[in-house]
Amino acid sequence: MSADTDQTRPLTSSPVTKAVIPAAGLGTRFLPATKATPKEMLPIVDKPAIQYVVEEAVASGLHDVLMITGRSKRSIEDHFDRAYELEEALEAKGDVDRLLSVRESSDLAQVHYVRQGEPRGLGHAVLCAEAHVGDNPFAVLLGDDLIETADLLRRMIEVRREHGGSVVALMEVEPEQVSLYGCAAVEPTGEDDVVTVTDLVEKPIKEEAPSRWAVIGRYVCDPAVFGVLHRTPPGRGAEIQLTDALLELARTAPEEGGGVRGVLLRGQRYDTGNKAEYIRTVVEFACRRPDLAEELLPWLREFVDRQDGAARG
Ligand code: G1P
Repeated sequence: MSADTDQTRPLTSSPVTKAVIPAAGLGTRFLPATKATPKEMLPIVDKPAIQYVVEEAVASGLHDVLMITGRSKRSIEDHFDRAYELEEALEAKGDVDRLLSVRESSDLAQVHYVRQGEPRGLGHAVLCAEAHVGDNPFAVLLGDDLIETADLLRRMIEVRREHGGSVVALMEVEPEQVSLYGCAAVEPTGEDDVVTVTDLVEKPIKEEAPSRWAVIGRYVCDPAVFGVLHRTPPGRGAEIQLTDALLELARTAPEEGGGVRGVLLRGQRYDTGNKAEYIRTVVEFACRRPDLAEELLPWLREFVDRQDGAARG
């Protein structure tokens, strides 16, 4: 990069150190379970979903985590805080394993909180991070998406470091599914797993989708996104959409923090935001655990056989 560019974009080289996790949704798809418990706290085996997301941020080198919370989110704060009474009780019993598992979440990262007064969409949630993030690039991790490894986010951070601008994560989906996602038109770059994003549409109908490339819940944003979000009008669902702000950035000059690249997902992504996928995630995660697989797998096989038998009559 030339000295000139450095002068116009003094922040391009500032590293990504902060993760923003929007967790203010109402969780209506999981009612009544989410009446008093945030959906982010629903367990995947024995850990709340949001802990996996924080672990991924930390594994990608992001130790400063800002949660955008809303109504009845106190249990998230409690989960990432010390639990002295519980710890004392476990200590007195000499239950070291459980004690360590309880301390793990409070030792994981520096977790901060800001409240999103009213649920006005993902773009608005991200805007709530402005004061904490300041003039630095930052990652956004959506709690509904669990990604198998931290490689994706690490790669996205690397792409940001090399090229500046913002970075989205992309996954190819069936045409019937594009309406569930932000959808991107892309052009190849010299790199296999990286594309240039030329268009973005939030939850298009099948006929209007620019491609089958769906944006999944990992982003690295240039701080210029805040300025854009301030003037982004409500879009799909009458909500302020991050997708719309990123589209504007895709059409903005690099000197002004513009440019959006996509990193293609390699590996597994789990969507815990809907019931069937949530259950599938729990089963898969449980089957990967040595302490559970031995008991669970034979039962699963037998259960499926029994179901098949019943279906055959
Ligand atoms: C959000 C985004 C959408 C993205 C999706 C990924 O939608 O608005 O662009 O594709 O996350 O999970 P939501 O699923 O929160 O409605």
